[in-house]
Formats: sequence, C-alpha cells, structure tokens
Amino acid sequence: MLKLERNDPCWCKSGKKYKMCHFNMDERIKLYQQNGCIVPDRRLIKSSAQIDGIRESGKVNTAVLDYVAEHINAGMSTGDIDRLVSDRTRELGGVSATLGYEGFPKSVCTSVNNEVCHGIPAEDVILKEGDIVNVDVSTLFKGYFSDSSRMYCIGAVSDERKRLVDVARKAIDVGLEQARAWNFLGDIGQAIDDFVRSNGYSVVKEIGGHGIGNEFHEEPFVSYVSKKGTEMLLVPGLVFTIEPMVNMGKAGVVLNKENGWTVTTKDGKDSAQWEVTVLITENGYEIMAR
Ligand code: MF3
Ligand code: CO
Repeated sequence: MLKLERNDPCWCKSGKKYKMCHFNMDERIKLYQQNGCIVPDRRLIKSSAQIDGIRESGKVNTAVLDYVAEHINAGMSTGDIDRLVSDRTRELGGVSATLGYEGFPKSVCTSVNNEVCHGIPAEDVILKEGDIVNVDVSTLFKGYFSDSSRMYCIGAVSDERKRLVDVARKAIDVGLEQARAWNFLGDIGQAIDDFVRSNGYSVVKEIGGHGIGNEFHEEPFVSYVSKKGTEMLLVPGLVFTIEPMVNMGKAGVVLNKENGWTVTTKDGKDSAQWEVTVLITENGYEIMAR
C-alpha cells in the first residue's frame, strides 16, 4: 500500500483530505499497534456511507423483531415465526441473511428453553405457555448486514426463567457501558462475564459475536469471557454484535450432530440471549439494531 500523504484524499472515500479525516485516528491506532495491541484492519472501519447503510439495515432488523413481538403466541410453531420474519423482512425491502447461509435452511434462528442458539424453525416445535424463546433475526438490506435478537416469554413464565431472561438482557447494557473508542473488546467481555457470574449464571465460551456490516460475519470474534485490556482495540467506525449466551447452569454446550446447527446446554438447563449490533463512535456507541 502506498503511504498516504496528509493532503491526499482519505482512504475512506469521504472525499476529505486525509489530514482532515482519518489521519489522527490512524496515528493513534499505530501507537497501540507498536505497543503490541490487536488493532482493527482498515477494512473493518466503516465509512460514513457504509454506516448509513448498516443503520438502514438495522432499522429493518429491529422492525422485524417488533413485528415478532406483536404476533408471537402460545400455540404457534417456530415455523410460523420463520414465516413472520421472512414475510416482514421482504415487505420492508430486505432479505434474511440466514437463509442459505452456510446451508442454514431457514430465515431466522429460534432457540427454545435449553437451546442456546441456532435453533432451526420447524412446524412441529410448538411454543407453549411458560417457554422462553430467542428469535435471532439477521437482515441483508441494500447490500448491508445487521443482526439482533430478543427473548420472548410465552404467556406466564416461571420466576426462575424470568430472572434468566432479565440478566441476559441487562448483560447487554453492562457490555455497552464499555463500548467506546480506545477501550478494548475484552473490557466488554469481562464486564459481561463478571456481571453474569455475580448473578450465579455462566457465559458460553465457544460461541460469540462478530464484526458485521459489509459481510454477515466479519472479524473480530467477540468473546464474552475475555479479559479487560485484551482483544481488539475499539475505534470509531468499528461495527460488531454484542450477543452473550447466558446459561442458568454450567457454561458447557453441545452441538446437535443430526442437524449440524442447534446448540443446547450440556446440563439441559435453560439458556437466554439478547443481541445488538453496535457502532463505535467518537463519543461512545450507537445501536444499529436491537
Ligand atoms: N444471528 C446468528 C449469529 O450471527 C446467525 C448464525 S448463522 C445461522 O450469531 F446460519 F445460523 F443463522
Ligand atoms: Co450474530
């Protein structure tokens, strides 16, 4: 790569001079890199046009989850949820990012009770009163990706399950408190892990979040059991998901070998997860999809 001079147009295609755009940030990143920190590749730092695109995609994703909230009910199958998500996404001009992704057969992941993630919607999985279900929606809209998920409680749910769902939801906010430029991904990870443990639950280690925007899954891998001051440096323009999986019992998980996707808890106890797509800004963060 040719060295950019201060008066050259910025690499982000903003049209501004480098010195008026990403120059200072690049210099700062370089210092961290020289100190041995993991720093994001330029390709992970979104331009303002890309950010606008991801924001629009995220609006569709959020609207689809709102639509699910209005319609989800006991007696419905997770196959019905799949149709709700698929239809609503198309009505809003997007397409599901999960359909056909590495062979995933449906337009959404639906994970019930002891399922941790990547549950495959099916006509014979009927939601019943007392169930907790994660609906994980991912959208491709005008070339940009977004990803968020929520827990839905079906009718009256036990206090035990309600608390799990609540702690998993709060874990997102605890993580977001650390989401600002010049912090590290590990700051988010440790804050979440500490919070979840202090509530007597555990965080899944093997599966995490990811960069997103231009692709469905980009670098970095986002762990929620990482340590403060480690992992990738957060810089303005980085977009990734926060999506810790919180287990009521032990952290261990198993993959369903038959369908190749669905992850359940090893001990059979329940699991909950919420997910947001977040942008790191100059002053903190912006939620792109929730
Ligand atoms: N939203 C999920 C995630 O990124 C999608 C997993 S890929 C799928 O964590 F094929 F299972 F949908
Ligand atoms: Co995700």
